[in-house]
Amino acid sequence: MIQKTDFLVIGSGIAGLSYALKIAKFGKVTILTKKKIQQTNTALAQGGVAAVFSSMDSFDLHIQDTLNAGDGLCDKQVAQMVVQDGPARIRELVDQGARFNKDGKGAYDFSLGQEGGHSAKRIVYAHDLTGKEIEDTLVKNAQENENITILEDHIAVDLITFSSSIRSGLLVTQNENICCGAYVLNNKTGEIETFYAGITLLACGGASKVYLYTSNPDIATGDGIAMAYRAGASVANLEFVQFHPTCLYHPEAKNFLISEAVRGEGAYLVDEKGRRFMEDYSKDKELACRDVVARAIDTELKRTGADSVFLDITHKDPDAVRKRFPNIHAKCLKFGIDITKDRIPVVPAAHYMCGGVATDLNGRTDIQRLYAVGETACTGLHGANRLASNSLLEALVYSHRAFEASIEEFKQVADIFTASLEPWDEAGTTNSDEAIVVSHNWDEIRRLMWNYVGIVRSDKRLQRALRRIKNIKEEINEYYWDFKVTADLIELRNLSVVAELIIRSALLRKESRGLHYNIEYPEKNDDLWLKPTILKKRF
Ligand code: SIN
Repeated sequence: MIQKTDFLVIGSGIAGLSYALKIAKFGKVTILTKKKIQQTNTALAQGGVAAVFSSMDSFDLHIQDTLNAGDGLCDKQVAQMVVQDGPARIRELVDQGARFNKDGKGAYDFSLGQEGGHSAKRIVYAHDLTGKEIEDTLVKNAQENENITILEDHIAVDLITFSSSIRSGLLVTQNENICCGAYVLNNKTGEIETFYAGITLLACGGASKVYLYTSNPDIATGDGIAMAYRAGASVANLEFVQFHPTCLYHPEAKNFLISEAVRGEGAYLVDEKGRRFMEDYSKDKELACRDVVARAIDTELKRTGADSVFLDITHKDPDAVRKRFPNIHAKCLKFGIDITKDRIPVVPAAHYMCGGVATDLNGRTDIQRLYAVGETACTGLHGANRLASNSLLEALVYSHRAFEASIEEFKQVADIFTASLEPWDEAGTTNSDEAIVVSHNWDEIRRLMWNYVGIVRSDKRLQRALRRIKNIKEEINEYYWDFKVTADLIELRNLSVVAELIIRSALLRKESRGLHYNIEYPEKNDDLWLKPTILKKRF
């Protein structure tokens, strides 16, 4: 089946929905989401959105904090643009119906929180469910918009580009790389559908599921990064994987984050004996940047052999804690931990990809008519380490920039609707009766990434990981061509691509900077490495 749409949005988190709601004034929009519309990383974001609203704060301070966290690799122009546009984009969210905690009567008199690496209070939040508030607001508006079609259980397989030669063999011109949509598995029917689009936006989130332990939900399989790379787009800075210092450590808790805002409200990080160990690592103690805190915890765990460290907020007023963190309080109670009385066992886990599909200031990739925003993209804002709560901010600002840029680009694309397209060809493929191959490879990738490509790396471990991932990729590839495509196989194929890209990027960077720490090169090397790591597929 071939479907046509003006704007194809892949992903239904903050970035995709914000873009869709704006661009819907200019044409028909189709949003593809691989599970249900609300099943996104955005909906799980606890902390908030960083922006300058306080008279004690300034754009310069927020820019400087962003650059400090990024450890030399942020694009200064991008940081300026994002920080300065931030307040307007947050006011738009309020105008769309989002309700954030407030201190005063004015619509934008936000109560502001504090997080690591920020020199002022600037986190706009909705209790500890900020992402859910934003997601609910945007979903409601999208569902009510008659120019927007939302297709759940639709997972993109690959981008369609004019110069690509993929499974269905679409070949129009050889000279330019132009995106004109995507092949998509309709997971309800099992059929592959062809979506033909004037502009395609990748807003598919990150890839932290490539690691065994992660704060992310199962959907975070790097689909946008892998598809863009396969289609010929440049990807950048994938060695910079952010490990969140404090994920709940409990055998029954899957991926539950204890927000950095808890440390922002004064929680201590302590070891089994109750000692505040962050004093040994940074003058900023618990509110040092995330790379510093995650590495400190990793060092403590290795040194003591303990399973976890602890977050302790029991010295704060219990009513205030319950009121500020209702979600964390309720969730921990389910596991028998009353955070007003008990210390919370925590460990670091993969949380956020600072790298992604390389874009310009407008979210354009180096494939025409293809944009990338949110965690899928690498805009230059985060550099070697993202400042807490700058990600929702980046998604809002860049979806707006991409919206403005794609109105212009869309005016020139009427021609593509006349190009001939071949539907997906699955001749010769059969249904697989070996699901074990898929689940085994999923498991193996996630373990090897955790063990060899984690918080502390070495060239030897990275080389070992690369050899293993290449074998796994070969196996997945054979499987992909022989059997009918399933959602699990699509995700596994994408995970394997992103895993290899992370390893190759980490091997290229012969220094330690921000989130990338290699014991063989423990220092920064500004002479050689004050630049992004870029990878691009050779055809
Ligand atoms: C958190 O609440 O700690 C996560 C916020 C972020 O990742 O920016």
